Amino acid sequence: MTMQYKPFLDALPRDLVSASDYARYAQQHLPESIYEYVVGGGGDEITLNRNRQKLDEILIQPSVLKDCTKGGTHTQCLGETFRHPLLLAPVAFHKLAHPMGELATCEAADLLETGVIVSTLASQTIEDIASKTLQPKWFQLYIQQNREFTLKLVKRAEKAGYSKLVVTVDAPLHGIRNRAQRAGFVLPDGIEAVNLTDRPPLPRQSFAPSQSVVFQGMMSEAPTWDDIAWLQTQTTLPIILKGILSVGDALKATQMGVAGIVVSNHGGRTLDCLPSSIEMLPLIRQAVGPEYPILFDGGIERGTDIFKALALGANLVCLGRPQLYALSVAGALGVAHLLRVLREEFEVTMSLAGTPTIDEITSDSLILGLNK
Ligand SMILES: Cc1cc2nc3c(=O)[nH]c(=O)nc-3n(C[C@H](O)[C@H](O)[C@H](O)COP(=O)(O)O)c2cc1C
Repeated sequence: MTMQYKPFLDALPRDLVSASDYARYAQQHLPESIYEYVVGGGGDEITLNRNRQKLDEILIQPSVLKDCTKGGTHTQCLGETFRHPLLLAPVAFHKLAHPMGELATCEAADLLETGVIVSTLASQTIEDIASKTLQPKWFQLYIQQNREFTLKLVKRAEKAGYSKLVVTVDAPLHGIRNRAQRAGFVLPDGIEAVNLTDRPPLPRQSFAPSQSVVFQGMMSEAPTWDDIAWLQTQTTLPIILKGILSVGDALKATQMGVAGIVVSNHGGRTLDCLPSSIEMLPLIRQAVGPEYPILFDGGIERGTDIFKALALGANLVCLGRPQLYALSVAGALGVAHLLRVLREEFEVTMSLAGTPTIDEITSDSLILGLNK
């Protein structure tokens, strides 16, 4: 199958004003199997749905008649300055949405001064992406079966100017992706993980009847904490672990001197029946203390969602699926518009809640559990 792109909008219609509008439009713009792959989650999508439900249950505590004229969204994290606390999460294969792929997304991110985390499974080379991206750019690493090849990727990322290594630890194998399976999703011809093309072939495996294709097969080379310790000795880049969802794992990360974590359940795409990221965020923040850098993702669609995540302890918030929706609808224009919408929604939220600076957004800015 080759990829057939629908014409991209070059002007934005009146009814395209929010991230969820982009999701609606994307359904018309993407081939069905690709839309299903992007929108879907693991298993029965209990975690995917819970990510949104639990965000919706949180209410904001307003405080009126505040002087907001000195307000702003600038923030610092891990030694870098961000124009606003929203980043683009690592998402594979942007060419599924647009022929320019990640280059179009990053052009928009630059325009809106938005940091990006580029996936190991990008469909453009990490060097091309880096050369066109001025904003803070971090590289998301999937530790490869072949550790030498893994190191090669890390060195490429260092050389290309990525400033952090975001190591994804919650997806050593795919979740049960029934929705994508039912839709018959396969990668179209010409779209591939171009940064992995020189990956050494995997050794042939055969299994005795007593062995499991999962445990002795797919998981046999899956990374462990020892690999994180090894990676720390191999790179000058600070390491952030993405996919932390338990207090124990978060504490282990701090004890190992890992620079930060992303509280995430991979957008509900790996193990189903996990808690939502927003439920775990305050527990993890409480355990690791106020200073430890925490990023958050899962279900972010509104400026109010960014606000809620910051109030519960996130330093930065990442956006997953909506970036691909906007890219499929209107290319770089769509992503830039989406980011502007979210930034403005966030500023409006801060103003109307009476917390015009990032530091003022705390758990006191929320009313928890009122509508249960
Ligand atoms: C289509 C798709 C591809 C993804 N690819 C990656 C990836 O390559 N690496 C990774 O760490 N996370 C990947 N993720 C997970 C995102 O980084 C992020 O954790 C998740 O999308 C956040 O949830 P949200 O989509 O509700 O914002 C992917 C998510 C989607 C939807």
